[in-house]
Parts: sequence; C-alpha cells; structure tokens
Amino acid sequence: MSAPATTQDALRVEGLVAGFGDLTILHDISLTVPAGKVTVLLGPNGAGKTTLFRAITGLVTPRAGNIALFGESIAGRAPHLIARAGIGHVPSGRELFPRMPVSVHLDIGGRLCPRELRAGLREKVLGLFPAIGERLNQAAGTLSGGEQQMVAIARALMTNPRVLLLDEPSAGLAPKVVLSVFQTLSKLQDQGMSVLLAEQSLTFGLSVASRAYIISEGHIVLSGTPAEISAERSVVQAYLGA
Ligand SMILES: Nc1ncnc2c1ncn2[C@@H]1O[C@H](COP(=O)(O)OP(=O)(O)O)[C@@H](O)[C@H]1O
Ligand SMILES: [Mg+2]
Repeated sequence: MSAPATTQDALRVEGLVAGFGDLTILHDISLTVPAGKVTVLLGPNGAGKTTLFRAITGLVTPRAGNIALFGESIAGRAPHLIARAGIGHVPSGRELFPRMPVSVHLDIGGRLCPRELRAGLREKVLGLFPAIGERLNQAAGTLSGGEQQMVAIARALMTNPRVLLLDEPSAGLAPKVVLSVFQTLSKLQDQGMSVLLAEQSLTFGLSVASRAYIISEGHIVLSGTPAEISAERSVVQAYLGA
C-alpha cells in the first residue's frame, strides 16, 4: 500500500506498466514529483526514461497503473488532452521543425494554452530566453544546439504547463551549455514550476534536483535525496555504467 496522493504531489506515477506489443519495457514504476521542485530520473541509454515520459504524455498507452497530475488521474487520455491538463513535454532529441522559424514553434505550444494567456506567456518565456527573442524569424535548424534546446523548452512552456518533463536536455551539448540549460531549470523552479528531468549524468542530475530516482532496465532501483544518492555513489555508478 502506498500513501494516498496529496495535491502537493505535482505528478504521481503508481505501478505503471507499459511496453510495445508483447514487450514490457516499464515494470511497476512508481515515482513522485513534488510541487515546485526538480526531480531527476537517472538511467543509462535504454533504461526506459523516454518510454516513461511517453507513457506520462499519452504517446504510449499504459497497460496498468495510475498517473495523477495534482491528484487528477490522466492515465489513458489522449496526448493533446494530457498536454491541456498541464503536462509540458520537451522530447528527447528536441523534435524541432528545422525549416520553420522559432516563432512558429512558440505558436505551436501556444495553441494548447488559453488564448487570453498567450501574449503574457510569450513575454515571460522570451524573458527567460532572450537569445531566442533575437532569432524569432530564424529557421530552428540553423540555431546552435543550445539555442535549439531553448526553443524546445520555450515551446513546452508556451503550453502553460503545471509540470514540465525534460527528456535529456543536456544530450549533445557542451558542458558550458548544459550548465546554462540547468540554470534555466533552477529559474523555473524559483518561479514555482514542477520539473521531471531525465538525465544520464549523475553529476549533472544531482546538481539541480531535490530528489532522484534511478531507473535500470525498466525498474526503479533506487530513490532518495541527492545526498542519499551520493552516499550510494558506487552502486549508482554501476547502474549508470559510469
Ligand atoms: N517504439 C519502440 N518499439 C520497441 N521497443 C522500443 C521502442 N522504443 C523504445 N524501445 C525499447 O525500450 C527500451 C527503453 O528505451 P527508452 O525508453 O528509449 O530508454 P532511454 O530513454 O532510457 O534511453 C529500449 O530497449 C528500447 O529499445
Ligand atoms: Mg531516452
């Protein structure tokens, strides 16, 4: 028996099972994202991080289990309804439209948020990413990797999410650029955003999060505060293959 959900849990996943065809990828996954905090999901390539994010966002249909957003069950809903309910998704690999200008990416996100909020939200998002504001008419594919990641985050923020899922935003970026992405996460947290971050690097992940889960072969094998996880560093590094 797990404790009853409280509204202080931004996101609560319980007993989630999901996979593809006969293949089960996620085995009985339970995790909690506290409101207003960054939670990190650490795991090596192929551990199931992206599949979990796709199950939360409705792109993969869960076979069992529950997913609650501030206490409201969203499991099994269509992806656009889950987005509207308040889950923002920064997908693995960013998934931008390379030939489309930055502004169109913001508009795509904005379509999911109430019309009267769009202008204010756009201003707030561009305040967070001034570099993007200077490149609104530039094709997304011509931006640097770091700028593209900012566009992917900005697009998700334009949906006015209550919880933001970021799937390996550090992938392929130079350490200095990763740092600036993570500084953005800290700013978002300061503004009250609840974040679930998928990450492969223990050092990067623990530097921003207040809680961590280790996923290995579709199982949550360890969870705790960064201090608790650091104390188990050798165990964790074995899981992460580092
Ligand atoms: N569409 C799919 N069909 C079949 N297997 C998949 C599919 N997507 C991912 N997988 C498998 O699921 C496992 C977990 O992958 P993934 O969730 O992408 O891990 P991670 O994001 O942690 O690298 C891998 O073994 C991968 O090959
Ligand atoms: Mg992945």
